[in-house]
Amino acid sequence: MALRSIFRAVIMGPPGSGKGTVSARIVKSFGPKHLSSGDLLRANITAKTELGLLMKSCIDQGQLVPDDVISRLILRELRAMEQTDWLLDGFPRTVSQAEALDTVYCVDTVINLDVPFQTIKQRLTSRWIHTPSGRVYNMDFNPPRVAGLDDDTGEALVQRDDDTPETVTRRLKAYENLTEPVLEYYRSKGVLETFSGTETNKIWPHIQVFLNEKLSTMKQKVVA
Ligand code: AP5
Ligand code: MG
Repeated sequence: MALRSIFRAVIMGPPGSGKGTVSARIVKSFGPKHLSSGDLLRANITAKTELGLLMKSCIDQGQLVPDDVISRLILRELRAMEQTDWLLDGFPRTVSQAEALDTVYCVDTVINLDVPFQTIKQRLTSRWIHTPSGRVYNMDFNPPRVAGLDDDTGEALVQRDDDTPETVTRRLKAYENLTEPVLEYYRSKGVLETFSGTETNKIWPHIQVFLNEKLSTMKQKVVA
């Protein structure tokens, strides 16, 4: 019997649209491996790797890191995940990154979270994260059981250096100028699925239904 083909997806959306939050739910329900470019860069900063040290000021200022640096980093990680379903979060973020990904992998679906900028600014200042796992909390929306501590490990939560109001504004600008064209790129390929709203809990059921259908169609195609 044929095995199901590998499912390769990308999740897009402006900073703070809930990519990390929704990705965790997708992983729980459908089991792909989650690869977040931001988490990967932050892990390099924490570990003080050469790359992390070089990129830190760029990230803290809300600017994108150079295309060739991030493309090489992500494609190297993906090579180690050849036989696994994956969900890419935060990459690609420019058309040149999307083209680099295209030369190696064909993406089955791109989930686009369409959340108003006004909602986002409010959210990011109350976000707390558990750096080792990338788990995301929000003091208003999904607070940890004990303030300041990760639910699973009990370790300390931190706020990101790029979550200040001025930097968030700069990140949103970079999104408009450089990342919105990527939506067009995927729309023209017929793989873009947009989910609009201001609340992750309301958007999530629609994504779940969509992915259930998408995965069962892929399964049927392979078996047939
Ligand atoms: P990255 O880490 O990818 O940041 P981002 O795109 O700015 O997105 P965020 O992680 O801030 O938001 P999210 O959409 O994951 O939302 P979350 O679930 O956390 O990148 C950081 C930096 O790295 C970039 O600025 C750049 O410098 C560099 N970089 C990364 N990738 C790159 C690339 N490919 N090329 C070049 N440079 C790159 O949710 C946000 C908050 O909202 C949380 O607090 C959450 O709890 C809360 N929330 C979610 N839903 C709700 C709700 N319904 N109501 C209230 N709050 C909610
Ligand atoms: Mg994120």
